[in-house]
Parts: sequence; C-alpha cells; structure tokens
Amino acid sequence: MDIFEIDGPVHLSGAIDVTGSKNSTLPIMAAMLLAPGISVIPNAPDLADIRSLETLLESLGAKVHRNPDGLHINSTVIDNPVGAYEIVRKMRASICILGPLLARCGRVKVSMPGGCAIGDRPVDIHLRGVKALGAKIHLENGYIVAEAPAGGLAGTQIFLGGPFGSTVLGTDNVMMAAVTAKGTTIIESAACEPEVADLANCLNAMGAKISGIGSPRLVIEGVKELKPITYSVIGDRIEAGTFMVAAAITRSKLQINNCQLDHMLAVTDRFRQIGVAVETSNGGCEVAFDGPIRPADITTQPYPGFPTDLQAQFMALLSMAKGNSVVTEKIYPDRFMHVAELNRMAASLRKEGPNVIVAGVDKLVAAPVMASDLRASAALVLAGMAAEGTTVVQRVYHIDRGYHRIEERLNAVGAKIRRKSV
Ligand code: EPU
Repeated sequence: MDIFEIDGPVHLSGAIDVTGSKNSTLPIMAAMLLAPGISVIPNAPDLADIRSLETLLESLGAKVHRNPDGLHINSTVIDNPVGAYEIVRKMRASICILGPLLARCGRVKVSMPGGCAIGDRPVDIHLRGVKALGAKIHLENGYIVAEAPAGGLAGTQIFLGGPFGSTVLGTDNVMMAAVTAKGTTIIESAACEPEVADLANCLNAMGAKISGIGSPRLVIEGVKELKPITYSVIGDRIEAGTFMVAAAITRSKLQINNCQLDHMLAVTDRFRQIGVAVETSNGGCEVAFDGPIRPADITTQPYPGFPTDLQAQFMALLSMAKGNSVVTEKIYPDRFMHVAELNRMAASLRKEGPNVIVAGVDKLVAAPVMASDLRASAALVLAGMAAEGTTVVQRVYHIDRGYHRIEERLNAVGAKIRRKSV
C-alpha cells in the first residue's frame, strides 16, 4: 500500500495542466455502449476509477484499449449485460451502465451499489426514472434487474428531484435510456452539472436529439440509433479547484491550464471572498495569493452552487483563516471524514450536524493522517503542503482514484511529496 510523505510548508510556482474530467469520462464511456462500433475519448484521464469502468465494460463484452490517441471502446459485441458485484463494489459510478444497457440490450442486471465513506448514496431515483420509461425492475440477491417492455422503452415526462435536489448519475442514466426510447422524454429537475451537459453534448454528437442541455428541463426526442464517436471531454473542474486551493494554501502563484472558469463561478466567488485572486489566463486561469486568508461561509449545493467535491479542500484552506467560517454540506451530510484528520494537524474544526465550525488557526502542524475518500485525501495533501514538518498520508489509493500522479504534478511546481510503498 502506498503512502505520501509531504514536507511543508512549500511555495509553488509555474504551470500545471488539468486532465479531462473523471466525472464526464465515466458516463461517456458508458454512453459508448449505445452505438455498436469503435468510439474514442482522446483525453480520458488515466485513473483507477476509469480503469475500473474499463474492466466492467470488458466484462460486458466490449473491448477497451488505451492507445496513444486516446481510450478506444469497441462496443460491437455486448453479450453479457451484467454489472458484477466484484467490480461495482469498488466504484459506485458503475451504476452508469444501467441506462445504456437497458436501451441497447433490453435487459440489464447490475449489482446494487453499497454505501461508501461519504454516505448511503441510494439509487432509488435512477430506478424511478427508468421505471417511468416502462422498465420493469426487481431485486435479485443484491442485484437490480431491469427489463424493457416488449415494445421497447417509451418517452414520458419524469420528475427526477430527490431529497437532496437533482442527481447527476441518475440524470445521466435516464437520459441514456431515453435517447433511443419511442417518443419524447422530458426530464424535470435534471442535474445541471457541466459533466451532465458534456454527456448530453456527446450523445447529440452520436445522433441523439437532446435540448435544454445545462438546464433543469431536458427534452429528449427518441431516435432509432446512435453512431460511434470520437469525443473529447471537458477539463476536470474539481481537479482545477484542487490545484487552485494548492496555490492559495501555500500562498503562491500558479497558472492552471485547461480549466474553464465559467464552470466554476461559485468556486471563484468563494475564492474572492477569501481574498484569493483568480483571473482567466491562456485558456485557463492564474491564481495568485499571499494571504492573509479571510474567513468565508460555504454551503454545498447542486450546480451552479458550490460543489461538494471541493468542500474538503476548502475546509483545509479555511482552517488557517483569520477568523471563523461555517461549512455546510447539503449534498452528503456525512461527508466530513477529513474533519478529525485535519484536527490531528492542529486545525480547530467542530462538527455540528451537517455543519462544521472552522475556527481559523495560525498554522497547521504535520501529523500522520488517514485518507478516507477521494476528496478528503486531496484535502490532507493540501494541508500537508502548508503544515510545518512532514505529514504522512496513509491509503493514498483513494487519491489515485481521481487524480493522475498528483504528487509528480505538484512536485513539478515546487511541492515536496514522496510516494512510498509500505
Ligand atoms: N440521491 C438519492 N437517490 C438517488 C440518487 C442520489 O437520494 O437515486 C442523493 C444522494 O445520496 C446525494 C444527492 O442525491 O445526497 C446527490 O447525489 P448524486 O446522485 O448527484 O451523486 P452521484 O451522481 O452518485 C456524482 C459524482 C460525485 C459527486 C456527486 C454530487 C460521478 C461519477 N460522481 O455522484 O463525485 O460528489 O455527483 O455532485 O459523477 C467525486 O468525484 O469525488 C464524487 C463523489
């Protein structure tokens, strides 16, 4: 198992490239099941989560190759529409095969994803959506079995909101099931995240007819078939935001390439409140900061609100603010595994239900800490770069799920992070 040893505090300078979006690539790989033939994602990031989905697609019958010109998915033959527990349990996002397999094969059996470190994460809304299209659903030994009626799925109006607002992968699944359904599907309370829009744009490039992209009302006119595609995904706004916090927490100046600030308005708004300058520059942005960190209240919300996937990283930054902040988690009320670990580094964080009261401290101090999930581990790496001494982060496989060789990329701009196998 790998650990990181992180020396701090460091000062960063130079430029860092953001990869293609993980959360766009995953559903877009699944969408490629809809069109028999070879589709390519030129800028698919090389991540553990992407490799998990590659394995899953291969188990369905697809052939997946990582070539110099991108990730090739040959979905000519899909003869085993079963998402096995052994693969799905490693990555919940595997549920994104539900919609496309139902549309393509008329039947799909996929393991019910379990809970994970950030909460229960049910899939009831996904099932409600495909049921509305006519699918019959039953549970069989921990598996969801969904079957399209003899005449195929049929378009209808579907409200997809849930107790925490819209659902990203739920919207993706229903949209992918609906693109070849008969008639028109209207999804109300659709997720508006840029990754959902990216999937819709990809589907349209494959021949689908989706309008209202980026809005909470998607209108999908069913088409007979889709064709394979070469499609480049958007830059990863969560990785970009993580690097922006890296610049801020080390009081540095960084150029961040391949980052679309118009996907990050809530994030840049909070940065400005904190006192961090973020400016568009050379197809990306420049972040410059020399402190002091001003406190700011943050509430996570569905897009265009502040993303839950940057909550932990901002908490690391605010833990050194000159004053108190309140961080409220409205998507995953239990997504606070990093709180106790940051407190081990001399932060002063107090959890009260879905809120964390962040009392700013003058400095963080290195400590051995444990990564619990992807974004919590990113927060610990950021804190380690600012803390005095050598921080040791255990279980860095969590960070490898969503950041490609983060230590090498941060070291190239001045960080001092060593990966060790123990
Ligand atoms: N929810 C339900 N029922 C459902 C589906 C969702 O109650 O059927 C609830 C969830 O429990 C949560 C809220 O609705 O409280 C929103 O969850 P959503 O379905 O939007 O999450 P997701 O689609 O499973 C994606 C990202 C997550 C990101 C969330 C929220 C991918 C592969 N994953 O998950 O990314 O946190 O949207 O933006 O796109 C990450 O990258 O670290 C990550 C966890």
